[in-house]
Amino acid sequence: MASAPSRSTPWWRDAVCYQIYVRSFADADGDGVGDLRGITAHLDYLERLNVDALWLTPFYTSPQADHGYDVADYRDVDPLFGTLADFDEMLAGAHARDLRVIVDLVPNHTSSAHPWFVAALADGPDSTARKRYLFRDGRGPDGAEPPNNWQSVFGGPAWTRVPDPSTGSGHRGQWYLHLFDPEQPDLNWDDPDVGDEFESVLRFWLDRGVDGFRVDVAHGLFKETGMPDVRGGAGTGPTLDDTMSQWDRPYWDQPGVHDVYRRWRQVLDSYPGDRMMIGEAWVGSPESMAQYVRADEMNQVFNFHWLSTPFSAPALRDVIAETYAAVGPVGATPTWVLSNHDVVRTVTHYGGGDLGLARAKASMLAMLALPGSAYVYQGEELGLPQVDVAPADRQDPTWLRGGGVGRDGCRVPLPWSGQAPPFGFSPDSPQPVRTWLPQPGWFRDYTVEHESHDPFSTLSFMRYAIARRRGLVDRLSHELEMLDRGDDVVAFRRAGVDGAPGLVCVVNCGTVDVPVDDLGTAVVLSSALAEGTGQLLPDSAAWFLS
Ligand code: NOJ
Repeated sequence: MASAPSRSTPWWRDAVCYQIYVRSFADADGDGVGDLRGITAHLDYLERLNVDALWLTPFYTSPQADHGYDVADYRDVDPLFGTLADFDEMLAGAHARDLRVIVDLVPNHTSSAHPWFVAALADGPDSTARKRYLFRDGRGPDGAEPPNNWQSVFGGPAWTRVPDPSTGSGHRGQWYLHLFDPEQPDLNWDDPDVGDEFESVLRFWLDRGVDGFRVDVAHGLFKETGMPDVRGGAGTGPTLDDTMSQWDRPYWDQPGVHDVYRRWRQVLDSYPGDRMMIGEAWVGSPESMAQYVRADEMNQVFNFHWLSTPFSAPALRDVIAETYAAVGPVGATPTWVLSNHDVVRTVTHYGGGDLGLARAKASMLAMLALPGSAYVYQGEELGLPQVDVAPADRQDPTWLRGGGVGRDGCRVPLPWSGQAPPFGFSPDSPQPVRTWLPQPGWFRDYTVEHESHDPFSTLSFMRYAIARRRGLVDRLSHELEMLDRGDDVVAFRRAGVDGAPGLVCVVNCGTVDVPVDDLGTAVVLSSALAEGTGQLLPDSAAWFLS
C-alpha cells in the first residue's frame, strides 16, 4: 500500500487527541453545564489517560442556538463557561502536564447576535455591513420566494427573510443565507473584511498560547458564483453527515477555500512550537480531500470514513485504503475518528450491548495502531452508549428542525462518580444539580470512579492501550503493510525503525475464531484470546510485537 511519507516529527503527527465537548465534560460552578474550570479540575484525569492533546468545542460568547457553534464574540469566553482568566489557567495547567490544546474556529457563519449581523440588519441593502454576509433579493412577485432552492443542513430552507429597515414593513426585505440554523448566518468570504477579521482572531488565540485550531465546516466558506439552484432538486439527507457530505452542492468545496488556508498556514508557521490546524472538510473524493492538506495548507483533515462504516473487514480495509489514497500523494499524515459530538456513539452504532462494546474496543485498538493521529471523543474511554433522550428534553436544533435523529444522545454530561445524577458532573449540593441534559440511572455503571476500580473496564483498557501506543509510536514506521489473514480479518503491520520491533494489529470481524498463534504473544487485547488455543475471538482485536 502507498505510504504516507513522514515529514519531520511535529507533535500532532502521531498524537492521540481527546475531544472535550465543553458543555458536557465537567461543571465546576454548579449550573448543570460544563465549563472551563471543570476541565482544569480534571486535567489529572486526562494526563492519566495518556492522551497528547485536547480539542475544546466552542466556549466563546454565544446565545447557544447551536451550543456554541453560533459565535457572537470570537475573542471572549461565554459566562456560561467562565472567563478568559479561566481559559488561561486551564491552558497553563494543560501545558504543565504536556497536554496541547486545540480550540475550535467557526469561520463559515457567525451568530445572528454578532455585532456585524446586528449592523447588517439595521443598515439595509447595499450597506458595508450587509456585504459581510450573503443577503440576496428574493425571487417571484414581491421577492417572496427564497433566492434559490438551497436547504439547511439542519432541515428547512437555507434562507430567511428579514424586514426592510427603511420601510419597517414586516418580512418584506431581503433574504440571508444560513446553511445551518437561522441563527447562524453565513459569512461572505469574498469580502476582505471577513478574511482580515479571522486572521486577527487566529492571532488572538495563538498569542494566548493555543497549539492549534479545529476548523468548523472547512469546506463551506465559499459558495459557487451566482449561487445557482442545487441541480436535480435540493433534498436533504436523513442525517447531519449525509447533508454535510453531499458534495455535489454549489456551497461545498469551492476552490476559494484553499487561499484562506494558505493564508492561515503562514500565520501558524510564523509562531514557534508547531501550531497546527485540522479541518472538518466533508468532501467527495480522496483527491478533493488531499487538496486541503497540501504542504502549504492545513496540517490535517478529519477522516470521517470510519464513522459510518459497519464492523466489516472489507469495509474497514476500504477505509484504510481510501485514507492512504487521500493523504499519501501529498505527504500528509492520516487521521482516524470513530466518534464525535455529531454522531451516534460507537457502541450503539455497532449494535449496542456487549457486542457493540466489543466492536467499539476492537475498532479503537485498530485506530490506535494505525499511523497518524487518533481523535477520541469524551466518553469513548468509558464505553458509553448513546442515551435515549426523551423528546421533551431534546435541545439539538437538528432535532427541533426535523433534520434527523438529533445529537443530544451523544452529548449527555459525563458520569464521574457516585450512584445517582449528577454523577459527580456538578458539585454536591443539598438539592442535586439538574444537568443540562438529564443523565440516565444506568450511568452508575459507567462512572470514572467505578471503572477506575475495575482492571477489566473500558477505561482501564483505554489507559493501557494509549500508554502502550505512546511507548511504541516513535519507533514505528508510517509505512503500512496490509496482511492477508482471511476475508473477515483486518490485519496490518508497521515495521519498527532503529532496530525496534514492529507492530501487528489483527481485528477479527467475523463469526469464528481466527488463528494468531504464529504472531507471538499479544501485548494488548480488546477482549481475549480463546483460552490456550492461540485463537482470536470474534469482535476482538490484538496487538503483537513482531
Ligand atoms: C459542525 C459541528 O461539528 C456541528 O456541531 C455544528 O452544528 C456545525 N458544524 C455547524 O457549525
